Amino acid sequence: MTIRICLAGATGWAGSALSRAIAKSEGLTLVSAVSRTHAGHVLGDVLGEPLLKCPIYATAREALSHQTDVFFEFTKPDVAKSNVLAALQQGARVVIGTSGLTDADYSEIASVAEQRQLGVLAVGNFALTVVLLQKFSEIAARYIPQWEIIDYASDSKVDAPSGTARELAYRLSAIRPSELTVPLEQTQGVVETRGARLTGSQVHSIRLPGYTISAEIIFGMPDQKLTIRHDSGTSAQPYVDGALLAIRKVNTFVGLRRGLDTVLDL
Ligand SMILES: NC(=O)c1ccc[n+]([C@@H]2O[C@H](COP(=O)([O-])OP(=O)(O)OC[C@H]3O[C@@H](n4cnc5c(N)ncnc54)[C@H](OP(=O)(O)O)[C@@H]3O)[C@@H](O)[C@H]2O)c1
Repeated sequence: MTIRICLAGATGWAGSALSRAIAKSEGLTLVSAVSRTHAGHVLGDVLGEPLLKCPIYATAREALSHQTDVFFEFTKPDVAKSNVLAALQQGARVVIGTSGLTDADYSEIASVAEQRQLGVLAVGNFALTVVLLQKFSEIAARYIPQWEIIDYASDSKVDAPSGTARELAYRLSAIRPSELTVPLEQTQGVVETRGARLTGSQVHSIRLPGYTISAEIIFGMPDQKLTIRHDSGTSAQPYVDGALLAIRKVNTFVGLRRGLDTVLDL
């Protein structure tokens, strides 16, 4: 059966790459798209892809007037939660690619998903190397009690920390909080330089021209340390395959899952 998709953010950097990939994927079809700038146009005309015949709307609510199996959120953090809740109210399953949602936002989304008996798959980073970074970090955290996360992105990224860093910290919190030899409140000097405490991890966000997206986690023990790092380039290609997989898998469970590995057999 063909999966009918509404893609919010279909004209963006990540969303346009995903739209083109959906156009060429068997069993997937875009029925509507969201972008304020291009509302009223046909997506294929905007992206130069004649296979994409769906209309573009300015809001998710309007776009969801089309029968939708999966709503894909790829816009900005300020509208993401309300888009997701609107999609669940319409009976659509949801994949969240947008970063910047908080753990409190996710709790609210999780309870609506449970109420509606629908699946929501939130993936801070769809790239396979990030999925592996998360998995390897979870293993390391079982043996090494101290770590810190460094999140690198370009100067134009509006949210901090990144979805990748948030998701990593959230997942490690299920194992244990990272220990601090000197508690933050006993830090002498400027405590902010120690980063933010996020679900049990110290997180440092760097926003500078020259970076795209990188995530690094350093585990430290006396006289030894382990660094696990992911870097992505400037194309959106690393995210496309994971996003397509998420669309195909989100109907296999009910409630909220965070991370692509939750639907993979790793
Ligand atoms: N999970 C992952 O692996 C992954 C990978 C890449 C990016 N991301 C995240 O995905 C999000 C999008 O990234 P991007 O680089 O593609 O951004 P982008 O190039 O700025 O694209 C944003 C898209 O969302 C639309 N949009 C923005 N605000 C909107 C609003 N208020 N109402 C309706 N549409 C709106 C934009 O169209 P208009 O401006 O015309 O409305 C555009 O189509 C970010 O949060 C980014 O961090 C996640």
